[in-house]
Amino acid sequence: MITKPTIDKIMEATDIVEVIGEFVQLKKRGANYVGLSPFVNERTPSFTVSPAKGIFKDFSSGKGGSAVTFLMELEKFTYPEALKWLAKKYSIEVEETVDTSENREADNHRESLMIVTGYAAKFFHESLLETDEGKNIGLSYFKERGFNKDTITKFELGYSPDQWEAFTGQAIKEGYQQEFLEESGLSVKRDNGSLYDRYRGRVMFPIHSFTGRVIAFGGRTLKNDKNVPKYVNSPESEIYHKSSVLYGLFFAKKAIRDEDNCYLVEGYADVISVHQAGIENVVASSGTSLTVEQIRLIGRLTKNITILYDGDAAGIKASLRGLDMILEEGLNVKVVLFPDGHDPDSYVRSVGTSAFKKYIEDTKKDFILYKTDLLLKDAGNDPIKKAEVIREIVESVAKIPDSIKASVFIKECSDLLKIDERALLSELNKMRMAKAKKDSQQPNSNSRQFVPVDETLLYEPVEQEVKDESGQEKEIIRLLLLYGNRMIDWDGIANTYIGPFMIAELSDVEFEHSVSKQFVELYRKEVENGVLPDEQYFIHYQDKAIVDLTVTLIATKYILSENWYEMHHILVNDEQKNMKATILGAIFHLKKQKVGKILDGLRTELQKTPDAADQDILLSQYIHMKKVEKSISDYLGSVIIK
Ligand code: CTP
Ligand code: MN
Repeated sequence: MITKPTIDKIMEATDIVEVIGEFVQLKKRGANYVGLSPFVNERTPSFTVSPAKGIFKDFSSGKGGSAVTFLMELEKFTYPEALKWLAKKYSIEVEETVDTSENREADNHRESLMIVTGYAAKFFHESLLETDEGKNIGLSYFKERGFNKDTITKFELGYSPDQWEAFTGQAIKEGYQQEFLEESGLSVKRDNGSLYDRYRGRVMFPIHSFTGRVIAFGGRTLKNDKNVPKYVNSPESEIYHKSSVLYGLFFAKKAIRDEDNCYLVEGYADVISVHQAGIENVVASSGTSLTVEQIRLIGRLTKNITILYDGDAAGIKASLRGLDMILEEGLNVKVVLFPDGHDPDSYVRSVGTSAFKKYIEDTKKDFILYKTDLLLKDAGNDPIKKAEVIREIVESVAKIPDSIKASVFIKECSDLLKIDERALLSELNKMRMAKAKKDSQQPNSNSRQFVPVDETLLYEPVEQEVKDESGQEKEIIRLLLLYGNRMIDWDGIANTYIGPFMIAELSDVEFEHSVSKQFVELYRKEVENGVLPDEQYFIHYQDKAIVDLTVTLIATKYILSENWYEMHHILVNDEQKNMKATILGAIFHLKKQKVGKILDGLRTELQKTPDAADQDILLSQYIHMKKVEKSISDYLGSVIIK
């Protein structure tokens, strides 16, 4: 277990904007920051971070919490993993008490796998730098390719010895379990059950997760044998889903955000060479065609992708259709083509950084215009082919969700295609309408409908959900959070805080909603210990359900939005003006609701009971509760209507 002082240090150091900023592009708005939700695919920012409160709230998915819960949600970290990530970021030494469950084997499955892949990365890296074979074969290969020492260290490049069990044997000797060695794909099982190394005599490229942990490998052969596969890659596993990983993203994410652009290349070597040349906003899809998940990963950081192609025209044409997917995700796509025979890796090494950059600036072309050019050249003067080109181009443009942007493209394409703009527009509208119709016929299909949302709507107050049963209980908790540590100064009652007062008043009420119940019990316990827990206490509580509830309640849009505050003084101010009515009103509304439920129960029982004596007892209970209800109503009336 991580010790309390360490947790406190981590919490103190954590800047939620900085942490979330590593994953989401945030823009300052008033006292808050807003961005696109990393949890759902959206085009209008509904994701809000409040640095003052140390919370985020995603109004699209409903998720909310602290920096820690953010990491747990997004990266699927456990609580200690999230803390350790933050500790690493802020260079805080983690103090742990011994807990066998956190040991290598007993920890959860994914963690065990990552421990194995992490160990393997270290093994390969050391074997590259410290063994004769590694130095003579692996290191000299990398040097020959122009990778310098810093690059080799940064990307944790390695070498796997040309033996059957060099890695596996060592790993087993050091106590790593066969199950995880096999599952991570590092070792392969023979028929007799023993394991051997998957990678032999290969240079190793570790693949890092978004947060920098090694989750897989690509191993490149050094042989020129056509029968040997050039790359051997890790198989899919619980920690490695190829379709949602981009090689180099961990090292590139900051630069992608800063440059507001992401270069997309094909191979490991391209990423590393371009990165080493000082252009760090570069990632690779590693040989597979781009997936929607990968595009969305980039889309969280920037809306601009520039694809750097090898100079091989056949490959480009094959990938054109795949690029429509990027348009569909609302990103801007530019393409750059390198001279024949060059890939980004070889080109940057041959011309150097500044000429490389200049080449990109000079030759980059918007994808749609590029595609138009390319297809037109192919079609020549054939009118049928040309009609086909027009249709294909308009199809691409129709994928762009932003209609203003789409119409700009229509204008430019009409020049290139030498076709009247209005004709293209009418074609575009036809396609859009057909698409809208198709989407509405498949309500459950993946193609989500994007209703254009006016950004100002974002700051409308949300209806308080007091209508459902747990709503009234949550209202109590909201008040505890917001006003619990304020002094009461009402006529007749003074010298006490609102929180303990509410807790005492509610001692006869049984909460039904389980998280609310847990919350109130927690509050009560702390009050009994002489502590008055505040917002921050619950925001940083280790139970995610509690954090969730807390953030949902304090992060309603009108509270997070000062604009809204200023515009409509009403709600929040009103409830503060008459605190007594607000607090007592909530308490007694809840009591009245509980009494109402008891009355309902009694009524049903009465109807079901044939026995007259029993009926009598029930009836007198009923009359008693009715009186209680009446007195609560009267009391409510007297506090509220004044
Ligand atoms: N790739 C693969 N398996 C192969 C060939 C390629 O997984 N048999 C993937 C690798 O991720 C590789 C990318 O496709 O990085 C691009 O392939 P290629 O251009 O052949 O590799 P480079 O990384 O450019 O390697 P090198 O420059 O060393 O030839
Ligand atoms: Mn290459």
